[in-house]
This record gives sequence, C-alpha cells and structure tokens, in this order.
Amino acid sequence: MKLKNYLFACFGLLIISCSTPGNQTSSVDRKIDSLLNEMTLEEKLGQLNLPSAGQFITGQAQNSDIARKIEKGMVGGLFNIKSVGAIREMQQIAVEKSRLKIPLLFGMDVIHGYESVFPIPLGLSCSWDMELIEKTARVAAQEASADGINWTFSPMVDLSRDARWGRISEGSGEDVYLGSAIAKAMVRGYQGDDLTANNTIMSCVKHYALYGAAEAGRDYNTTDMSKHRMYNEYFPPYKAAVDAGVGSVMASFNEIDGVPATANKWLLNDVLRHEWGFSGFVVSDYTGVSEMIDHGYGDLKTVSGKALAAGLDMDMVSEGLVNTLAQSLKEGKVTEKQIDNACRRILKAKFLLGLFDDPYRYCNEERARTEIFTAENRAFARSVAAQSFVLLKNDKKTLPLQKKGTIALVGPLADAATNMTGTWSVAARFSESITVLEGLKKAVGNQAMVVYAKGSNLHEDAAIEERATMFGKSLNRDSRSAQAIRDEALRIAKSADVIVAAVGEAAEMSGEASSRVNIDIPQTQRDLLKALLETGKPVVLVLFTGRPLTLTWENENIPAILNVWFGGSEAGDAIADVLFGDVNPSGKLTTTFPQHVGQLPMYYAHKNTGRPLAEGQWFQKFRSNYLDVSNDPVYPFGYGLSYTTFSYDKLALDKTEISAGGTVTVSVNVTNTGSREGAEVVQLYVRDLVGSLTRPVKELKGFQKVMLKPGESRTITFTLTENDLSFYRADLTFGAEPGKFQVFVGGNSRDVLQTEFELK
Ligand code: BGC
Repeated sequence: MKLKNYLFACFGLLIISCSTPGNQTSSVDRKIDSLLNEMTLEEKLGQLNLPSAGQFITGQAQNSDIARKIEKGMVGGLFNIKSVGAIREMQQIAVEKSRLKIPLLFGMDVIHGYESVFPIPLGLSCSWDMELIEKTARVAAQEASADGINWTFSPMVDLSRDARWGRISEGSGEDVYLGSAIAKAMVRGYQGDDLTANNTIMSCVKHYALYGAAEAGRDYNTTDMSKHRMYNEYFPPYKAAVDAGVGSVMASFNEIDGVPATANKWLLNDVLRHEWGFSGFVVSDYTGVSEMIDHGYGDLKTVSGKALAAGLDMDMVSEGLVNTLAQSLKEGKVTEKQIDNACRRILKAKFLLGLFDDPYRYCNEERARTEIFTAENRAFARSVAAQSFVLLKNDKKTLPLQKKGTIALVGPLADAATNMTGTWSVAARFSESITVLEGLKKAVGNQAMVVYAKGSNLHEDAAIEERATMFGKSLNRDSRSAQAIRDEALRIAKSADVIVAAVGEAAEMSGEASSRVNIDIPQTQRDLLKALLETGKPVVLVLFTGRPLTLTWENENIPAILNVWFGGSEAGDAIADVLFGDVNPSGKLTTTFPQHVGQLPMYYAHKNTGRPLAEGQWFQKFRSNYLDVSNDPVYPFGYGLSYTTFSYDKLALDKTEISAGGTVTVSVNVTNTGSREGAEVVQLYVRDLVGSLTRPVKELKGFQKVMLKPGESRTITFTLTENDLSFYRADLTFGAEPGKFQVFVGGNSRDVLQTEFELK
C-alpha cells in the first residue's frame, strides 16, 4: 500500500478504534507495525532525536538547519519553540516534506502555568488542595495546547529535603504521601481523560530518579542511597505518576549506584517498565546522553548504545542516538529490536495524541488568540496564588492591614514585575505580571496612600546579584551606597503608619543550577529590615523565596511574616488580597524551615536513631544533636497560620485492634476558635513503632482541607487501611507488620494529638 493511502487508512481506523478503547492498543500497534516496516534505519533513529528548536520568527524556520533535518526524517520532536505560527511551520515540513510524513511532537517546560502563571510548584503544594492543583495543570494544558504545544516536561516530583538545592522550588517538598498525591493530580490535569482532545497535552514526569537527593545540595551531583529508602521515600511520587497514566518519563542527570540514570537499565527497564508497568516512552534530560562522557561512562557512541540498551527512547539535544546507533548496530552493541522498541514507543505517543489523525490538531490560531492569558485564567491564577501563601508569624494581629493611612512599601522585590513568576516560567509575559506595588495601590484605591522606595539591592555582592537575576530578570541594581538606598526608604517609612517589606530571593536564586550554601535572606536586605524595625513602626515581611530560608532572626524580631514564594503572574493582586484580609491565608508548609543551614538535610519523617534527644531537651551529651543549635526547625512541616485560630480535640479511633486487611477510622473534632471564616489543613500522621526495618518517627497518611465558620466545629474522619501501614521491607516486598501504631492528628507535624492501635 502506498504510504499516503496507508496513513489515511490509519486515520479512519484510529477514529473507529478511539470509540472502542478495548481495540485501541492493538489497532494502534498494528498501524505502528506497518509504519515500522516502511521505515529505514535512519528514519527510525530520527524519531529518537529531540533537538532544541530555539525560537524562530515565523518564516525563518524553512531555512534553518533543523528544517533540513526534519525534511530528512532525522527529528522526532522539537522543544523550546513557541507560537502556533512557528510550530505550524515546523510541522508542515515534517508532514509535507519528509518521506514518511510523520508528525513531530512539540514539547515545552510548561511547569506552573503557561502565560497565566501559577505559583512555583513548591508554593502550589502548600495549598494542599488536589482539585485546585489539578485545575492549574488543566488550565496550563488548555493554554499551551492553544499555542501549539502537545507535550510538557512536567510534573517534577523529585522529593527534596535539602534547601540548598535550588530545584527544591520546582517540586512539592519533602513528603512522600503528599508528593505522590500531587504527582497524580498534575498528570490528570495535563492529560485529562482523552489525550487526543485538542486541549490536553502529554505529561512527562521527571527527573527519574532521586534527582532531589543530590549530595551537598549541589545541582547535578551524585546521589547514593539504599534501596529501602528509594522504594519507601523517593520512588513513590514517580510511581504515582505512572499509575495515573503519565505518557512519558524523563531520566535524571544524576547517577545511581554508579550508573547514570540515563543509561541505568535497572531503573528504566527493571523498575519502571517491569515492576511498575510503564508503557510510555523515556526521554533523556537536556544533553543527558552526552553528559555521560563527563560522568566517565564512555565516548558518545558507547554511552548512546548503553542508554538505548538500558531503555532510553529519546535523546534530548545530544544527538548521540541519531548519529551513532547505526554504527553500534553494525558492531552488535545494540539490536534492531531495541531500536524498533524505542521508535515504537515514540510513534505510539504521537498516535495517542492524535497527531497522525491531524498533525495540526494543536495549531489553531483562533484558540491562540482567545484562550491564552484570559481574564478568567488570570483571575483563577490570582486565587490560586493567595492559597499558596503561608502566614509564618502574626504577632498582635499585625495582619490583616487596614486600608487607611500611609503604607510604606520597601524592598528590592516590591516593584519587580519580571521576578513575580519565579523560576521556570518560560512562556510568561514577564513585564505584564502584577507587582506588589501595583497590587497594593489598586487594592487601596483612594482609601489609603502607598509610598514606595527600594530600600536595598538584592545582594551586597554585585556578582551574586548578577547570577541571581539572569534571563531578563534584572532588579536594576542601584549604584548608590547601601546606606544611601536605605536612608531613602527610612525617610518614607518614618512618615508611614505601617511598613511592608518585600524582601528575600530573586526569581533565579532558586531553580536549576541555583544552589546556595547560605540560605539566609541576603545581609543587605537584613540590614534594611533591622533599620526599618528601629523606626518603631509595625513591620510586615512579605517573603519571596523559592526554598526554605533560615529565618531564625526574622522569626525572633519581625512581628508578621507572610511567605508568598513566587506566586505567578497575578501574585501582586493576590498579595494585596491576603495583606488586607480579603482572603484569609491557609497555606501550610510542605518543607521544613531549618534554623541553620548546617541542619540540612532536615525533614519531619526522620528515623529515631538509637540515641534520640529526650523530649523538651535541646542538648544532651552522647545524644543525636548539635552543640550549637537545637534539633528544632524554625517552622515544621505542615505549619502555617490563619487570621483565625483552630483547636483540636476528641481524637478517637473506632477500634484499638485491627487484623490484617482491616481498617481503622480516626476521628477528630476541629473548631474554628477565632472570629473569621478560615480553611484548615487537618493532617494525619502514623508511626509504626517496631518494624523489621526501622520506621520513621511520623509519616503523613492523610489530610483534609476544611473551611470552618467562626465558632463552627466539625468532626473530621480518616480511614487507615492496611496499605497505609505497609512499607517496602528488606526484600522489597510491600506489606504491613503486626504491632502497635501511633496515630497523630493536628494542624502541623509538630503540634498534634496522639493515640494508638494495634495491628494483630
Ligand atoms: C532540565 C529539565 C528540563 C529540560 C528542558 C533541563 O535542563 O533539567 O527539567 O525539562 O532542561 O528544558
């Protein structure tokens, strides 16, 4: 059959098969088989190639080097390309000029929204609201697909317990259970229940695996951990994404057990495909294949062959697979079957996305004009941002502020539009983000006066500031002395009724390759805060950050601290909403905030050790502690305040003994004891007291976010199943062991009520 006819036949079949899901796999597989039969070796290898397009102005693409490669069938997909026009042009080359007319995938890092930008993932996770999180991914998919994108490199589900690691900002924090729930929600949001729909996109869970456990918090660094820890703590969020049907997986940059993840057969084939049943395709990270040369794993030909044999399907940027595998095949280092398998998985993704049916399915100029950065999406982003903020301190009800008098707004992040969306917001319209200054001014209208001064540079060291404000996110460094910049702010502060200080990190101080050894607020900004406190006026710290910072001094000295992370394109309005009390904050931390960087890695679900510190103590000789700092965090996991208060009582279990397969119902009474309506995240933790392997002192096993009116009480119930009590044991079987379990419920991981039951 002539290819064109064949493809048309395929489209017809696909439409029929889509309506009968049972047939889909086999009919798609048959189509892929016929296509593979038509393909030359070079064309098969071309499908494994994912170059970065760079941005083309429409019309330029035709003459580019990439266009020539597409025409020759040497490209399977492109990324780093934005706009329907540019994408349509590239797709046209693939489906009109290449011999087999196979459509391209178009990927992008749509990480926390597209043009309507949501909070950075770490912030978003603090909402603890799975429906909300799923909807952010849905809206991101809607906007991205309206602009030609059909594949996103998200979610990033790397667990991280080391705030030095800059990419902690891109994940959901330190917890296994919460991280897994978020992984599922994100995949569902992007992919919906029909990948062929023109407003859903394929998700790519990353970075598989253990990327967040980089030694010393230094990006790309080695990870090394026990299988017990991998299976119980670091693997579950990736597995959750696989269970949710994620279409693709990205291999991480790091090595595991001495083998780079990109060519790690145990990881890619044994665990991912065989144990977890993943049937999609695996893509490397950016130059992940060629970086194996520097890992000391061989030359480009060797590492490319090893990667394919290990189960890698697509090569991002290195062009190692496309250029060397033919030779490796001749030498017997790889097999044709391995090449066919990789190619098959990529073709299958294209079928699932409906690209063979209509390669321009995601290229609709009308949608691009009407569905992106809409008023509706921006309003949603504003409400999401407010729900991600965490109120860390609020002495003497400093917050909410009143819309009256004079408000002095100071700080290097107060009027910084390009920094509002945070790291990894590649599609954002930077200059159109709402700043804190704009947000406050709009909110008060003519009821109050907002006066502004920068107050300090981002950092006392100009070189560090430059590194922290890359990619067009300059904070316009002021060349005056620190004293002169500060004095200007003090002048306006002295005439004000209240001071709002927008300080912390710049957007690019976290994210990729943005590790820090000092996680304090930079000294020049702390000096500003000290000087502002000396005015005697109430000071509110609006904290911008992409990671937990060491806020020991701030927590001791500043009356009110609102952590706003990087809240996205609408964050300025959302900050005003919360500062003035139009929205009551309800975010809860998903990472521990340490007192000192030397405590890292720090996380609530640690082991007890054989020499735990006695309760209430902060130093005991020959116990597990430090000479100079207690073991406590400044703010524990799960912590966050509200403008109202909540109390917990009547923690009860429906039974104190259960047998295998049984369940136990935990109930607790939660009361809003303040004077405002507010949302509380009720958290359930469990401790398995004795195990065949030692167990953490607490593990999150449930949470519910409830809205309560002033004075309202509600009984919240959780059901614990045997699955919740199970863990991966030494032989990596998963199961629960008889014995006593403690149950804790509270509004954070530290302040809890406690009871226990026994599994017989
Ligand atoms: C990052 C990935 C990202 C990729 C493509 C890499 O540097 O590690 O997270 O998806 O680039 O932009």
